[in-house]
Amino acid sequence: MTARRAVFPRIVFLGRSAAEYRSIWGLAPEDLVGRRVLDCPCGPAGFVAACRKIGVEAVGCDPVLSESVETIRQRGDRDRRDTETVLASSDPTLASRDPVAWNQEKKRSLEVFLEDFATHGPRGTSPDGRYVAASLPELPFDDRSFDLVLSAHLLFSYADVAAGGLVDAAHALDLEFHLAAVEELARVAGQELRLYPVYACDSTSPRPHALLEPVRDRLQDLGLTTELVRSEYDQGVADVPDTLIARRAGSSAVV
Ligand SMILES: C[S@@+](CC[C@H](N)C(=O)[O-])C[C@H]1O[C@@H](n2cnc3c(N)ncnc32)[C@H](O)[C@@H]1O
Repeated sequence: MTARRAVFPRIVFLGRSAAEYRSIWGLAPEDLVGRRVLDCPCGPAGFVAACRKIGVEAVGCDPVLSESVETIRQRGDRDRRDTETVLASSDPTLASRDPVAWNQEKKRSLEVFLEDFATHGPRGTSPDGRYVAASLPELPFDDRSFDLVLSAHLLFSYADVAAGGLVDAAHALDLEFHLAAVEELARVAGQELRLYPVYACDSTSPRPHALLEPVRDRLQDLGLTTELVRSEYDQGVADVPDTLIARRAGSSAVV
C-alpha cells in the first residue's frame, strides 16, 4: 500500500522533549552554559526548562504563550490528538515508528513545559522573562540579543504540501513569510541561527524543500555563511541534509 502524504489542518502546538532537541541540534543544555539561546517557536517543548535548570540563559517564544496555563493545556491536548489522527491515516514513519511512545513523549513534554510555564511564564508566580508571547515575522528582542537562535518545526514544515510542507496552500506559510521570518531570526542572532527541518516533509520522496534555496540565498545576502548538515533526529526520512546552520561572518560554531 502506498503511504498517503500527511496534511495538517493548521500549525499544531506540539513540543519535543529536551532529549529530542538534543538529537535535532546535536546540542544538550550543558553544551550551552554561558550562551544566550532563543527557541523560536518553543511550542510546549521541554528545552527551555531543561536549559534554565542548569543556568543556561534560554528564552522560548511562541504566539500561544499569551494564553493561560489551562487554555494552553487544552490546546496542547487537542493538537496532540489531531496530530495522532493525521499520522495514523498517513505515513507513520513521519513522526515515529512507535505511536504509543510518540504520544507519551509529547504528553510528557507538554507537562514539563506547563510546570515551568506556570511558574516562570508571563502570568506565572515567578516570571523571569524566559517565556515570551511573540509571533514571527516580528520579535520583541534587540539586534543580536542571543548567541544562538534555534527554530524547529515551523518554517518549511508549514509550507504548502506542493513545496514540501504539511499544510494545504490555503493555510500555508508562503515564501514571503519565510524570507521575512529568517531575516528577523537572523537579526536577533549574534552568532548562529539553526533551522530544522529543511527537507520536504514527505518520507516517500526525500528531497530538499522547495523554499530552501531562496531562504538560504536571503541569509547569504544578509552576510551570513550557511551550511547544510544531517541531524541525528530520525523521522523516517532517508539520509538527507535536514538542518540549515547560518553563521555571522567571523563567528565560529557556537558549539
Ligand atoms: C510544531 S510546533 C514546534 C515547537 C518546537 N519548536 C518543537 O520543535 O517541538 C509549531 C509552533 O509554531 C508556533 N507558531 C505558529 N505561528 C507562529 C508564528 N507566526 N511565529 C512563531 N511561532 C508560531 C505554534 O504556536 C507552535 O507552537
